[in-house]
Amino acid sequence: MTLAYPARDAVLRRRSRARVTAEAPSSDELLSLVEAAATVADHSGLRPWRLIEIRGESRSVVGRAIAAAGGATGEAAELLAQKPLRAPLLVGVVLSPRESRKVPEWEQESVASGVAHVLSLLLDEAGWGVMWRTGIWTRSAEVHAAHGLESGEKLLGWLYVGGIDPYHEVEPRKTFDAAQYVKTL
Ligand SMILES: Cc1cc2nc3c(=O)[nH]c(=O)nc-3n(C[C@H](O)[C@H](O)[C@H](O)COP(=O)(O)O)c2cc1C
Repeated sequence: MTLAYPARDAVLRRRSRARVTAEAPSSDELLSLVEAAATVADHSGLRPWRLIEIRGESRSVVGRAIAAAGGATGEAAELLAQKPLRAPLLVGVVLSPRESRKVPEWEQESVASGVAHVLSLLLDEAGWGVMWRTGIWTRSAEVHAAHGLESGEKLLGWLYVGGIDPYHEVEPRKTFDAAQYVKTL
């Protein structure tokens, strides 16, 4: 008997794409995928996350904050400032911790991270190129301020999203020996 596992197939097919074209999903398409990603397991249903849609000139605001946080000047600052221009859409992933005696912050960060992973997969399945990126300045004061983060909020990085570039193939995923990572207690 052949079992069909469409979600397994989609996960195995997903590859991050470092290079994308200038095409991007619309805000409405993004929202419909976020609606699905928001169903990740979430202790007490706190929804301790939010996303920031960054397009156009707003990407340069982020770039300038990265350059300022790095303390770079001249050409080095220029290069850092251009990093967010590598995709037409950046989705900033924010941990917004909620007050809870039962659910510590590490659990809440797991939920925010889960949303980002599932959203990456959904975007990939919808035919978009996606790559989750961070950098050593992701949690700097400058970068947090540029995103308008509230006190206590933390950035988990950005999903860089754009069109699939037909001139940049990605390798199919290599097989993986799951048994090496699963032991019985
Ligand atoms: C939280 C997080 C941050 C990441 N930051 C970067 C990054 O800044 N630069 C980078 O090249 N890859 C980064 N990656 C890894 C890529 O997103 C990607 O997973 C990796 O290139 C492997 O490709 P694959 O997803 O197709 O297996 C990050 C992944 C995660 C989960």
